[in-house]
Formats: sequence, structure tokens, C-alpha cells
Amino acid sequence: MDHSKLKFQCIMCFSINEITKAEMGHQHTCTNCGKVVQLPNSSFSSGRVIADDFVIKKKLGSGAMGSVFLAHQLSMDRDVALKVLFYQFTKDENYADEFNEEAKAAARINHINVVQSLAFGSDQDLLYMAMNYVDGITFDKLIKRHGKMNVDDALNIVQQVAEGLHAAWTEMHLIHRDVKPANIIITDDGIAKISDFGLARQAHKVNVQTISGSPAYMSPEQFAQKPLDCRSDIYSLGITLFEALTGRLPFSGTNASAVAYKHLNEPIPVNKIKPALNRHVRGLIKRMTAKNPDDRFQTPENLLNRIVEIRKKMAVDKAAVANVHTMSIKRQSFTNPKRERSLKTLAEYNRESQQTKQATNEHRRLYAIAGSLCVVFVLLVMFYSLSGTNHQKNSTKVIDKKLTVLQNKVDKKLTDLQNKVDKLTKQNSVLYNHLKEIKELLEHKPKKNSAKQLSENKKKSEDKKLVKTKKD
Ligand SMILES: Nc1ncnc2c1ncn2[C@@H]1O[C@H](COP(=O)(O)OP(=O)(O)OP(=O)(O)O)[C@@H](O)[C@H]1O
Ligand SMILES: [Mg+2]
Repeated sequence: MDHSKLKFQCIMCFSINEITKAEMGHQHTCTNCGKVVQLPNSSFSSGRVIADDFVIKKKLGSGAMGSVFLAHQLSMDRDVALKVLFYQFTKDENYADEFNEEAKAAARINHINVVQSLAFGSDQDLLYMAMNYVDGITFDKLIKRHGKMNVDDALNIVQQVAEGLHAAWTEMHLIHRDVKPANIIITDDGIAKISDFGLARQAHKVNVQTISGSPAYMSPEQFAQKPLDCRSDIYSLGITLFEALTGRLPFSGTNASAVAYKHLNEPIPVNKIKPALNRHVRGLIKRMTAKNPDDRFQTPENLLNRIVEIRKKMAVDKAAVANVHTMSIKRQSFTNPKRERSLKTLAEYNRESQQTKQATNEHRRLYAIAGSLCVVFVLLVMFYSLSGTNHQKNSTKVIDKKLTVLQNKVDKKLTDLQNKVDKLTKQNSVLYNHLKEIKELLEHKPKKNSAKQLSENKKKSEDKKLVKTKKD
């Protein structure tokens, strides 16, 4: 029996109840309203309360470090994204201490292109981090859904992420360490936000770090366990840009060491892309993903300058390209009609995903209608079958009556027939007897005599007469 405690919100009165793990999946009487409620089977189901403040609504997804839930923060009456780390991280005390420090630092980054950390802490044996809930689509899902992206749209997103990295680096000396499309969320109005900053480590605190992050996007120095700085994030962002423009990863392999080998030794296959990428964009990716950090852009700001330069050269609507550090401000003022038009390209992706969401909702609605119709149909069938039973009962009675009449008629006919048969049998037996008699008669009748016999008979009878006369 597991007697460790959990807290759940009563679905009837919303008060918080403490239960034991052993009670999960069973019925529980609310300590406040006294109503009996069914407890879910899983510890992280809707209604679970964490740190007396976060009520889980639903699971949003999970990654390498933990699961993310949409939760309601009771104290602030707002929805948040709550990342609950896996037990393997929480049981490691060093990690828990480090996590607290990192999360504190990350919570101080307040930038439009960074998902804001709101709270962090522990509840019994779990560690959590609450972040702003971003209603949007992750960049990896966007790439999977649409394949290769238009160059300016991809650069627009990378530029925004670089703004977020710049803020973290200049304000807090923080690096992300896990920049990848799955950690970039794009809102419906086209704002890209980098998430999971709380899980990064302050660069000056760590010299030799244990390998973490996603191998497909990790820098050579991350694999080599060398000290990291903002240039490592620039490398990972370069891989992200490559993936957005080609729809595939530059280096892949059956295991992490095969991927690591390629990141450490093989040149990025940017020249092999067909149709060929613009030379400025090729050059940008090459520089972002140079094996040696010294050959890369040295800061996010350097990178930003180059991105803006390229976009201003290449973009169809050059005026729509936001300058370095001004993107978020310009983004909110849609006064320039040309800019509005350019934003539409990215907005289209979002609109499509919005439409997909709407279509999904539409489908759900249709399914609900179809479901209701089915229920109505089933109810109607049940109703008619029930009323039909009465109807059937009545018709059965009529049929029974008719059958009885018919049966009587048949019986009568049968009796008549039987009588006739009896009569015939009788007649037949009379006839038979007659025939028998005739036969017998015929058998006893003297046969046609020959003349000799006749004379013999005559003689006999004459002899008889003579004898008689003598007697007399
Ligand atoms: N702040 C957020 N707002 C809304 N949804 C979020 C937020 N953070 C994460 N998510 C959702 O939760 C999912 C899981 O996120 P998570 O960070 O655990 O996984 P990941 O990014 O794929 O892997 P990793 O553990 O390497 O970061 C994401 O794909 C996203 O859909
Ligand atoms: Mg993540």
C-alpha cells in the first residue's frame, strides 16, 4: 500500500482534498462537501493540485526532462504551463539546487521572445517550473506540417529567437543549451518565443558540463564537454535554420555517437541543398554552424546584424524587415500596409494551423452531432421496437384468431375427410366381403362337367332313386 500523500481538487466543491496514492482510482468522500467523488487512476490527472497552487487541467506534452501540463494557478487566477521534471532529475540533490538557481535567473528574463518563467519549486519529491502558457504551435510541428519554409519567414523566426538569446546573454549571462525547433513556440500573430530557459545553466558557473540537450542540435563543444557560452546556442540555432529551410536535419544517425561524430567532423551539407539556397543564406548557416566557436558569430547581436542585413537584401518587402532589437516594438504596430502584407506570409502558416484547429473543432462538432443523432436513432429504434411490441402483440392476437378459425376449418375438413374415408373403408369392406363370398361361391361351384361326368352323375342319381324305390 502506497501511503504517500497527494492533493486533488474536489470536482463538486473545488476544495482541496488530501488523499493517499493507494486511494487513486477509488471513490473518495470529499472532506468539505461530503459528496462521493471518483478519483482518477493517474497522479497527474486533471484536478491534481501541486504546491497547493497549481491545478492540473490537461497534459500538453512531454520531452526529455519532464511533462508539461496546462494548469490553473489558484493564487493568480491564471492559466500557466507547468513543467514537472521526471523523478530521475528530482532525486538528484545537486540538480535540484542548480535547477532552483537557474530557474530564478531565467525568471528574471523579461522579453517578448522568451517564454517567461513564473514560479518554480518542489512539492514533496517533485520539481516544477511554471511558465507563461503560450497559445501557439511549436516550430518543429510547423516544419513537419509545411516542410521547407520560405527563406524570409524562417529568417524572421530565427531573428526573433536570436533577440531572446541576446536578452538572456546580455542581461543574465545565461545560455539556453537546448535551442531546437521543439523549444520555439510561435503564437498566432507570428511572435516566436523560446521556451525552457529555466533549464539552462549560467555559463560562468559551469566549466565542464554533463551532456544534456538534443544531440541533433548540439554544438561540437557540447559533445566534447568543453565550456559553453552563447556561441553554442548560435550553433544550435544554425541547425534549426537549416532544418527550417530544408525540412530535414543536416546530421542524422542511428545513435547519439554517430550524430556526435558528424557534428564534430563533417561539414554542414549546406551546398548540397537542391534547389540551391541563396549564397548569403548559405554563408549565414555556415558561419552559425562553424565547428570552431571562434569562427562563428561571437554574440547573438552579431548574428542579428547579419540576419537583418540579409533580410533587407532579399525580402520582397524590405521595409517590413524589423531592425535589430526593434522587432517586437514594430511587430505590435501594424501601421505599415506593406509590412502587414509581408507578415501575412508567416501569418498564413499560423492561419493554416488555426484553420486546422478550426477544422478539428468542426470535426469534433460533426462527430458530436453524428453521435447525438446516433443516440437519437437508437432511442427511436428502442421506442418503436417497444411500441412495435404492443403493435406486434395486437397483430399477433389477430393472426392467432385467424389461425384458430383456419385451424377449425381445417379440422372440420379433416373430420369430414376422415368420415368419408371411414365410410369408404366400410363400403370397401362390404364390397370385400361380397367379393369374398362370390369368390367362395365360385370356388365351391361345380366345375363345368364333361359329358362323362354328367352321365356318371345321372347314373348315380338314378341309382339313388332305385335304391330308394326298393326301400319303399
Ligand atoms: N510555455 C508553454 N506553453 C504552451 N505549451 C508548452 C509550453 N511549454 C511546453 N509546451 C508544450 O509542451 C510540449 C512538451 O514540452 P517539453 O519542453 O517537455 O518537450 P520538448 O521541448 O519536446 O523536449 P525538451 O524536454 O528537450 O525541452 C511542447 O511540445 C509544447 O507543445
Ligand atoms: Mg522543451
